[in-house]
Amino acid sequence: MSEVTVKEVKKYFNQVKALDGVDMKIQDGEFVVLLGPSGCGKTTLLRCISGLETVTSGEIRFDQKNVTHLPPKDRNLAMVFQSYAVWPHMKVKENIKYPMRIKKFSKEEIDKRAKETAELLNITELMDRYPAQLSGGQRQRVAVARAIVLEPAALLMDEPLSNLDALLRVTMRSELKKLQQRIQTTTVYVTHDQVEAMTMGDRIAVMRDGKILQFGKAEEIYQRPKNVFIAGFIGSPQMNFLEMTVKREEGRAELVSKGLSILCEEDKVKGLEKANLDKVILGIRPENILLSPENGCVPIKGSVYFTERLGGETIVHVSTESKRFVVKVSGDALFNENETLRIYLNVKKTRLFDPETEEAIG
Ligand SMILES: Nc1ncnc2c1ncn2[C@@H]1O[C@H](COP(=O)(O)OP(=O)(O)O)[C@@H](O)[C@H]1O
Ligand SMILES: [Mg+2]
Repeated sequence: MSEVTVKEVKKYFNQVKALDGVDMKIQDGEFVVLLGPSGCGKTTLLRCISGLETVTSGEIRFDQKNVTHLPPKDRNLAMVFQSYAVWPHMKVKENIKYPMRIKKFSKEEIDKRAKETAELLNITELMDRYPAQLSGGQRQRVAVARAIVLEPAALLMDEPLSNLDALLRVTMRSELKKLQQRIQTTTVYVTHDQVEAMTMGDRIAVMRDGKILQFGKAEEIYQRPKNVFIAGFIGSPQMNFLEMTVKREEGRAELVSKGLSILCEEDKVKGLEKANLDKVILGIRPENILLSPENGCVPIKGSVYFTERLGGETIVHVSTESKRFVVKVSGDALFNENETLRIYLNVKKTRLFDPETEEAIG
């Protein structure tokens, strides 16, 4: 198990810039998720860490050791690319022992480690079965057992659940997460699925265009996204964005758009003063817009445009003079189309962005 350090890593495929200066430090035993849209460089970063791809420039370290120019076999890593990456013609115990046989471990060592790993992953009673006789979850555990039996510095996974159906994927998420907590192996996990990232990662690195835009805990990225892209990428339904005019005078700041006026709290006033903008993008998540007034909420008149009743929650699209807001309410709520109503923006839970740079200002 190791700390993994990626330093100013760039990777070009001819003219294509796949990684554009990536810096990250993954702590020993940590579960880090690389999250981002297709083509942003997640797989390339994982492959650079593994050595399957050579970096164009920059450095990769495992603890103090510089591994930048080592081939994959000398990096002592384990990779799980697909959930069913076990050999169907071998019993579970043979699957687990195989990597050690390749490395010519002694028979005693092989038996000892296979037994310990099986105990760790709770598959001791499955050792004499073939993969076809296992459930999806059990098969995944065998795949992980085989991956970690050589005690790798880190475990790398590239969208391991993407081929599974929705229901199994949900089960496997928590299964894999629990597994990692038990084995405490430093893990780098690639996904484009934000729910997977939010539920599994100790920390999440959000990537775009070969760069890491934000690296932090799930709640931090959800509550305090660094820019409009991250704010929009994380969360479903998406955060509402609205461009507003800033009116500032003597330590006060008001945000104005048609039918809506928000007096800013102190912390936001400071951010606005520093940024010195005439316009600002207000971001508010659908669950932070309410249908009844509460302390600190600002009302805006609207009418129901469209309702999505999902059973446990209801998504209401509300047209206002300013924009159409998406509102999430818990429970199954019934609305008539064009019904007029007021919605209430929970101002404390808003985020402000610079319209030019799209960076957060508070
Ligand atoms: N072997 C390759 N040759 C040329 N271009 C590549 C190669 N691998 C990846 N790329 C390009 O690098 C960028 C990042 O790709 P990738 O790391 O696979 O993204 P992701 O895994 O986030 O979907 C993309 O533009 C992709 O087309
Ligand atoms: Mg990929």
